[in-house]
Amino acid sequence: MEFPTTVVREGEATLLVPELYGSTKNLDRARSRAPVFYNPRMRLNRDSAVLVLAAHQKKLTRNVVLCEPLCGTGIRGVRLALEVEGVERILMGDLNPRAVRIAEENAYKNRVSDKIEVRLMEANLLLSIHGRPLHRFDYIDVDPFGSPTPFLDTTVRACKKGGLVALTATDMAPLCGVNPRACLRKYGGRPLKTEYSHEQALRLLAGALATTSARYETSMSPVFSYSADHYVRLYARLEKGARKADQSLSNMGYILHCCKCSDRKAVPLRADPASYVCDFCGSRMREAGPMWVENLADPSFCEEMLEASEGLGVGGNRRLMSLVQLVKEETSFSPGYFDIDDICSRIGAPSQATDRVLSALSDRGFRVTRTHFEDRGIKTDATIAELEHILTEIHIDEGRSSDVA
Ligand SMILES: C[S@@+](CC[C@H](N)C(=O)[O-])C[C@H]1O[C@@H](n2cnc3c(N)ncnc32)[C@H](O)[C@@H]1O
Ligand SMILES: [Zn+2]
Repeated sequence: MEFPTTVVREGEATLLVPELYGSTKNLDRARSRAPVFYNPRMRLNRDSAVLVLAAHQKKLTRNVVLCEPLCGTGIRGVRLALEVEGVERILMGDLNPRAVRIAEENAYKNRVSDKIEVRLMEANLLLSIHGRPLHRFDYIDVDPFGSPTPFLDTTVRACKKGGLVALTATDMAPLCGVNPRACLRKYGGRPLKTEYSHEQALRLLAGALATTSARYETSMSPVFSYSADHYVRLYARLEKGARKADQSLSNMGYILHCCKCSDRKAVPLRADPASYVCDFCGSRMREAGPMWVENLADPSFCEEMLEASEGLGVGGNRRLMSLVQLVKEETSFSPGYFDIDDICSRIGAPSQATDRVLSALSDRGFRVTRTHFEDRGIKTDATIAELEHILTEIHIDEGRSSDVA
């Protein structure tokens, strides 16, 4: 290589990556200046790709053809070729000639050159020339800098019927409501700053994919998705058909949020304006969206991921495995989660342990789960008023037991 490299191991791959200089404090800066992009902190993202593709391939029971149009060092494609059974061919691409060279070298070093082809090509061009029958892919992984929306049209066109697309979005400022105008431009939906903004981010991304797919008479359904670190990640299945696309669009809507009491509800696109008034405090609710307001994962696909993990190296990634389990449990709840600390501070009570709140809710007959979006977050069918009441009760009980002691 014409630049300094170092060797790393990730999963079953041994790879050349650019050597980074500078203090550990400035690693992000060093990474952005590296001749080819490589981020070890995205390992969870790549591990999840291995697991999702393994589950998908197992179900298809045939070989699959993949595309990674923004491949960087090639680490993702090389790992998919090594770790997932039945990968027949991977077409990778990058605009950066150094990325293409190192990706080719990495494919060679890991003895998967026979399956991998790397092109020096713009991602939309690479996907466009594969947008016709017999040239499409079973799985397309779009992992760009920032937003994947500039690549959505060509990704949908290049994906086979029943195929999977994987999208990473790292532009969390627009998606979480810090820059709402940029979010509207890129994702076609308005975000709100709320305690569940990471979930909104994922729903806005899913919404953008659903509306783009619909233009090509294609439906999209999320099979697995999550938020972690500084990004959101969506895996969705695309199916052809105008009716299916209409059905998929019927899962678009708004989240109405009361900024005064934190009540929230999901409503369809053509919502009755009366529903914009908070049931609890009577304030006018603000809307976020349009966005995807239905399930962000398919529980049976999550189960298949758990089964596929047996015998795979990524099965040893405990963070990934508990993520899959939690995402599966969260699917049956409506949009939005509550932050225990926010509610406690609003009612003037000290913070309560998450386990205590979970058991208090389920003892009173409510459905409740932790959420992967936030350590102190819970999803429940209890309303904000019921939650405040239960947390006040816990606080009063605590006071009584400390008086007795
Ligand atoms: C976030 S990095 C990819 C990281 C890689 N997927 C991984 O798992 O390590 C994004 C890559 O996209 C490339 N890139 C940016 N814009 C592009 C475009 N329009 N077409 C093709 N490649 C592009 C960059 O050179 C960079 O290597
Ligand atoms: Zn209210």
